[in-house]
Amino acid sequence: MSKTCENRFKRPAFLEVDLKRLALNTKNIKKTLGPEVELLAVVKADGYGHGAYEVSKVVLENGAGSLGVAILEEGIELREKGIKSPILILYPEFYGREKMIVEYDLESTITDFEFARMLSLEAKKQKKTSEVFLKIDTGMGRYGFFAEKSYEFFKKIKELENIKIKGILSQLSEAEGEDKKSALKQINKFKEVLKRLEFLNQRDLIKSIANSAAVLNLSESYFNQVRVGLLLYGVYPSEELSKSIRVEPVMSLESKIMFLKEVEKGSFIGYGRTFFTKRKTKVATIPLGYADGYPRLLSNKGEVLIRGKKAPVIGRVCMDAFMVDVTDILGVKIGDEVTLIGKNGEEEITACDLAFWSSTINYEIISRMGKRLPKVYIN
Ligand SMILES: Cc1ncc(COP(=O)(O)O)c(C=O)c1O
Repeated sequence: MSKTCENRFKRPAFLEVDLKRLALNTKNIKKTLGPEVELLAVVKADGYGHGAYEVSKVVLENGAGSLGVAILEEGIELREKGIKSPILILYPEFYGREKMIVEYDLESTITDFEFARMLSLEAKKQKKTSEVFLKIDTGMGRYGFFAEKSYEFFKKIKELENIKIKGILSQLSEAEGEDKKSALKQINKFKEVLKRLEFLNQRDLIKSIANSAAVLNLSESYFNQVRVGLLLYGVYPSEELSKSIRVEPVMSLESKIMFLKEVEKGSFIGYGRTFFTKRKTKVATIPLGYADGYPRLLSNKGEVLIRGKKAPVIGRVCMDAFMVDVTDILGVKIGDEVTLIGKNGEEEITACDLAFWSSTINYEIISRMGKRLPKVYIN
């Protein structure tokens, strides 16, 4: 095992990103899909907080055929660092940004004719062919051509110069539930549209609607490409979902005890005086906070692991620090390792635990980490 360290100055709060696990997760997902279904790895939001470039290299080496980002800038960053694979911008881009899309050979998601027309003009100007995916709204209600009205637009887009229609996309609004009715309805609508696109070259056309939950829950959604984010990072979209594909969490969040003190019974802890000690209490201060992605909603709710034991968060999480009660942890001292996400001894705290305590979803927890936290990569 080797480590690549972005933590130049050894900040006592960092993300550990296990690239060996990421490789294994990618292989396991690809094995389930088989050779006919392409794995598009979703690396938007800086690879869900894990580092988009480092993640991209590993997933492409282990079974992913292409990458998905959310915005132009994310695609440019990957190209500038040397990623050569197809990169699809999964969301429509705003008018005026087509020049850079063409320049950096990024693929676009098209949701209106006018953008496609502007892209065509730009591609012609740059003497290139720009590859596009046409997005259909089958029930998500966010972006896309309405299924019923899509044909006339698609025919017009097909006629545009220097544009190649590479695929058709849609997005499921609920694939994680036991009740698969709404997802199946969307899949059927998608199939109906595909059937009517005889004017496109069906053999080469990419057809893509599945996300992580659908990959686990709905093999009918695979078509010839799936777009997977969360599962690659070793996190399941919901607790209820079948864990038919084995994946392990890639991200751990580690810190160290920075400051330690004993306070008398009846002391207040932190901003707003929201915690009051009911006994003589040993308080440890941990040097990261909500500006690092540790949610403020964990105030008086979260837990961390120290010496293999749970320590509750007491008082409010501040921007750059928070406090935990370590009274019951024997031998605790400054510099002790603190695990906020990950394993410590026999105990484990997951991104799902943090999501549950702070009333959000695991996607939000991991994707918001890492703006200020250094990353240590395990290779
Ligand atoms: C368009 C699109 N496709 C695929 C995904 C991947 O979803 P998941 O992380 O659930 O696999 C996302 C993520 O939000 C998305 O926006």
